[in-house]
Amino acid sequence: MSSEPVHRIQRLLLLGAVILGCFVTLFVMYLNSSTGWQSGTVESIAPSEHAKERIEDVLTKKDHNETTVLIWLWPFGEKIDKVNVCASKFSIDGCFITTDRNLYNKSDGVIIHHRDIRSNLSHLPPPHQRPSFQKWIWMNLESPTHSSQLAVMKNLFNLTLNYRRDADIPVPYGSLIFIEGVDNFVPPRKNKLLCWIVSHWKQNMARVKYYNELQKHIKVDVYGKAFNKSITRQDYVSILTSCKFYLAFENSIHKDYITEKFYNSLGMGTVPVVLGPSRHNYENFVQGDAFIHVDDFASPKDLADYILQLDKNEERYRRFFEWRRHFQVKRLHFWIEHACVACDYLRRHRKYQVVNNLDTWFWD
Ligand SMILES: *[C@@H]1O[C@H](CO)[C@@H](O)[C@H](O)[C@H]1NC(C)=O
Ligand SMILES: *[C@@H]1O[C@H](CO)[C@@H](O)[C@H](O)[C@H]1NC(C)=O
Ligand SMILES: *[C@@H]1O[C@H](CO)[C@@H](O)[C@H](O)[C@H]1NC(C)=O
Ligand SMILES: *[C@@H]1O[C@H](CO)[C@@H](O)[C@H](O)[C@H]1NC(C)=O
Ligand SMILES: *[C@@H]1O[C@H](CO)[C@@H](O)[C@H](O)[C@H]1NC(C)=O
Repeated sequence: MSSEPVHRIQRLLLLGAVILGCFVTLFVMYLNSSTGWQSGTVESIAPSEHAKERIEDVLTKKDHNETTVLIWLWPFGEKIDKVNVCASKFSIDGCFITTDRNLYNKSDGVIIHHRDIRSNLSHLPPPHQRPSFQKWIWMNLESPTHSSQLAVMKNLFNLTLNYRRDADIPVPYGSLIFIEGVDNFVPPRKNKLLCWIVSHWKQNMARVKYYNELQKHIKVDVYGKAFNKSITRQDYVSILTSCKFYLAFENSIHKDYITEKFYNSLGMGTVPVVLGPSRHNYENFVQGDAFIHVDDFASPKDLADYILQLDKNEERYRRFFEWRRHFQVKRLHFWIEHACVACDYLRRHRKYQVVNNLDTWFWD
């Protein structure tokens, strides 16, 4: 063998050293550049950890196949330190939920609560520092009437998390879960016929107009801020269960916007009388004979007459609980379950996704 191969080996070694040198230089440059948020728009997110630790973190995370979801704005200013409850509470494995903004760079998903951004986009993470794998999740559980429409959000998000069935991550206020049911459900003891608990009141609301007419024909036991009768959480349960019927009237009328007013009543053994989207829409979520819809009657007076009739017929009243033979009401645990459900979604859908019509999808 000539000296040729030896030269080749030397050249290879030299080349290797050069490449290694480049990597080291780049790595050092990377460490030096990780000095914090350049933009001054977001408070309290100066990186507290050393860059090296962060890299180790990411590697460990990949080993553990764990998905990190950062709640950028914890809804309604609630604070929570570190939560890792998806597995223990909801049997969703592999999720790490955090509110620690230092973990922004390694978060697979960032949940942004619509109401907490308000009109001020400076409350958002700086978009130019958004890692390429990261998905921004728009979370909103309010109706379009009570959510400010921001055109600027149009192309910002990757996923929608909303009560609507056609959201990327649908989170209805409640659902019926199949169970080996109860054959003879007995509703709780009743001492009132028809009740309503309400705080938000404006004369032009559909529910206010309906109530004003209805109460001329039937007695309604009313509670809540709108009637200067604020109640505690405990009162809420005892009032709701003690009424045969409950006005589950939504504050505004939108597709799929069926809220806890309905599911609480249903779950607690009180028959909901609904005002909201169409009966057909309700029946996408629950059985048609579990509730009364105001649209079933030509007038509030007809509804009042019907309820008064039912009051005299226990057997017909009991039929509203037939659905309990096979189902029970499940409600999501605000807000932590929403975050876990979002994480679960991210783990199952690793593809590229964008929402580029948020303003028209939600507000039209
Ligand atoms: C995230 O990474 C960017 C550069 O990609 C860096 O400027 C910023 O300081 C990092 N933020 C945190 C919170 O680590
Ligand atoms: C990570 O977890 C997901 C969801 O459980 C699974 O589909 C995937 O195969 C796992 N990946 C690795 C590398 O273990
Ligand atoms: C937006 O929020 C930032 C940070 O909280 C604040 O400094 C700024 O004054 C706000 N701007 C408006 C228009 O409210
Ligand atoms: C509730 O109280 C306020 C102020 O005391 C009063 O103006 C209002 O008319 C009251 N509303 C009802 C429904 O009684
Ligand atoms: C998320 O959406 C943004 C904005 O539409 C887009 O630039 C980004 O590439 C998307 N990322 C992923 C991981 O889908």
